[in-house]
Amino acid sequence: MPQIPRTILITGASSGIGRCAALMFRDRGWRVFATARKDEDLEALEAENVTPIRLELADTASVQSTAAQVLNATGGRLDALFNNGAYGQSGAIEDLSRRALEEQFATNLFGTVELTNAVLPAMRANGHGRIVMNSSVLGLVSLAYRGAYNASKYALEGVCDTLRLELKGSGIHVCLVEPGPILSRFRANSYLAFQRHIDAEASVHRDRYRAMRERLNTKGAAVPFTLPPEAVVKKVIHAVESRSPRPRYYVTFPTYLFGLLRRVLSTRMLDRLLARV
Ligand SMILES: NC(=O)c1ccc[n+]([C@@H]2O[C@H](COP(=O)([O-])OP(=O)(O)OC[C@H]3O[C@@H](n4cnc5c(N)ncnc54)[C@H](OP(=O)(O)O)[C@@H]3O)[C@@H](O)[C@H]2O)c1
Repeated sequence: MPQIPRTILITGASSGIGRCAALMFRDRGWRVFATARKDEDLEALEAENVTPIRLELADTASVQSTAAQVLNATGGRLDALFNNGAYGQSGAIEDLSRRALEEQFATNLFGTVELTNAVLPAMRANGHGRIVMNSSVLGLVSLAYRGAYNASKYALEGVCDTLRLELKGSGIHVCLVEPGPILSRFRANSYLAFQRHIDAEASVHRDRYRAMRERLNTKGAAVPFTLPPEAVVKKVIHAVESRSPRPRYYVTFPTYLFGLLRRVLSTRMLDRLLARV
């Protein structure tokens, strides 16, 4: 009898890690549902033989409709969810409006948790499931001018650590992936969010913003130890396919380094180091 392919839902698959994950899981024989927001990105996914779904994480109707579409198409079976879609709001804390912060959390946290909750009943009914959250090294340590993004990823770490305890014994595993710098559209998208919400010239931080703009506009790797998205997806594959998935997967040297240093250094010593990054 032919085996039914396992199914995975991947958010934020228009580019970068999500798109790479969609193609790699497809190549491993998974039935892939991959989300994007723009028509051209949905068409590009369809051309790659994955099932495209339009998802705006900041919109609750869109989140609920995504879960319903996947569960309808699979007869209520979803083996894995890769919560990957997110963006980075740059800017000093004192320049962040309430709206900028709310938007950052609406996508990176609220939509992600809402989507997870929408598929959990089906996973519970099936007695198994894998949920992988794409966090960041910035879910472990903080950098100046990344406060909104840091806060959203710290919050995601907290949610995951709690969910892991609450799902114990359910057959559902929750894993965090914590990448450092990865080649993707992340910086370009961060720049758009920066322009949308930060009045750089009116800020006391304007000189630092000029340097930051240059970095955000750099093509290719802007910092050492940058890896391609495949490095992240390899860990996601382990989280989803292994018999004993790990709660946390570090990716890139900076994550291993800061994951260790935050445990052994005092806050003051760590601050001294992070202020120079
Ligand atoms: N690149 C890095 O250095 C790095 C490091 C650590 C962690 N990460 C994490 O890796 C994940 C993927 O990022 P990436 O590097 O692949 O960046 P990317 O190329 O910018 O991809 C981000 C994806 O998220 C989607 N997205 C953003 N806001 C959304 C929203 N409101 N609703 C639905 N989808 C939304 C984007 O869709 P659109 O194309 O429509 O905007 C895109 O498909 C993120 O969780 C990020 O925090 C990245």
